[in-house]
Amino acid sequence: MFDTLAAQPADKILSLMAAYRADPREAKVDLGVGVYKDASGKTPVMRAVKAAEQRLVDAQDTKAYTGLAGDPAFSDAMIGLVLGDAVERERIGAVATPGGTGAIRQALELIKLAAPEATVWLSNPTWPNHPSIIKFLGIPSAEYRYFDSATRGVDFAGMMEDLQAIKAGDVVLLHGCCHNPTGANLSGAQWHEVIALLKAKEAIPFIDIAYQGFGDGLEADAAATRLVAAGVDECLIAASCSKNFGIYRERTGILMAVTRNAEAATKAQGTLSFLNRQNYSFPPDHGARVVTTILTDPALRADWEAELEEVRLGMLTLRQSLADELKRLTNDDRFDFLAHHRGMFSRLGTTPELVEKMRADHGIYMVGDSRMNIAGLNEATIPVLARAIVDAGV
Ligand code: LMR
Repeated sequence: MFDTLAAQPADKILSLMAAYRADPREAKVDLGVGVYKDASGKTPVMRAVKAAEQRLVDAQDTKAYTGLAGDPAFSDAMIGLVLGDAVERERIGAVATPGGTGAIRQALELIKLAAPEATVWLSNPTWPNHPSIIKFLGIPSAEYRYFDSATRGVDFAGMMEDLQAIKAGDVVLLHGCCHNPTGANLSGAQWHEVIALLKAKEAIPFIDIAYQGFGDGLEADAAATRLVAAGVDECLIAASCSKNFGIYRERTGILMAVTRNAEAATKAQGTLSFLNRQNYSFPPDHGARVVTTILTDPALRADWEAELEEVRLGMLTLRQSLADELKRLTNDDRFDFLAHHRGMFSRLGTTPELVEKMRADHGIYMVGDSRMNIAGLNEATIPVLARAIVDAGV
């Protein structure tokens, strides 16, 4: 049976991780996978996470199953973090999922059950695993323009023009904040326009929010998601705890279905629990319980927010230093967009050939579409990257 298997396409981001590890050069810079690193290159366990884990070790007296939807306290805490009071709780169905990817997968399975004819619209570009899972599930998809490679900002006119073609019931996937891979984000006014268009078209927004707290702050980064959820009758929201709690390997995420009313929420809740059962039964609990512990304990929450804010401000400083260094080397402000982008990533906006040249000549590892993980930099490697960018003639 296994002889019939075709080789699967390698994931671009994960294969870059392997290539970086295999490179014997001392001087190499990893700007690949979206994992936060501090100035010494480590991905630390956050203080509040350690404390919450310790508390769990001491106090937890069972490892028996939770419910199929996960611990309801986790759903409540995460709905509060992401949505605040934008939507009445009774209109929301929610399940814990294995990471943000699990939430995306469950959302797509839900779409397939509820609206098999719907086309899912993706930004071009988007996180490569979005189209990959959509294709794997055989769901119709289409793209809308998003990135303007001249300004390295959002091609908003192109986006709105492409979204004119959506049909009633189609699903439009939007990044709630910190767009991956570009770092270019919609303004508040643009979000209002998008919401008005989706309402007029009777389309369903599907928000992927994986970097809340990495852009302009925890509340500011949730603003667009809240605006969408409050402004439409129905939407889907996939949220990840991997990055903002730094619990990547614990696989902690949540899928929320915002529905028209309590009755629809009950139906969505039942289907989400059913989908969890079909795919893995009970969702992972450890990370979810850590998150719940932090979010519901005022002292732990304050410490988590403070550490996350340090991380965010550190990334903003790195962005500014890189833009400054490039201005110094080129006497030109054309790289200022790096300081304006938000989140973990910036798309440099160059060719795969020049990305490869920077890897060969300077040991710089960025994704082939020129996505850089800003958190992979430090004060020592900024001049190395800036020099590589200039030498390559970007
Ligand atoms: C990324 O985009 O690098 C992260 O979301 C990690 C991943 O799973 O691809």
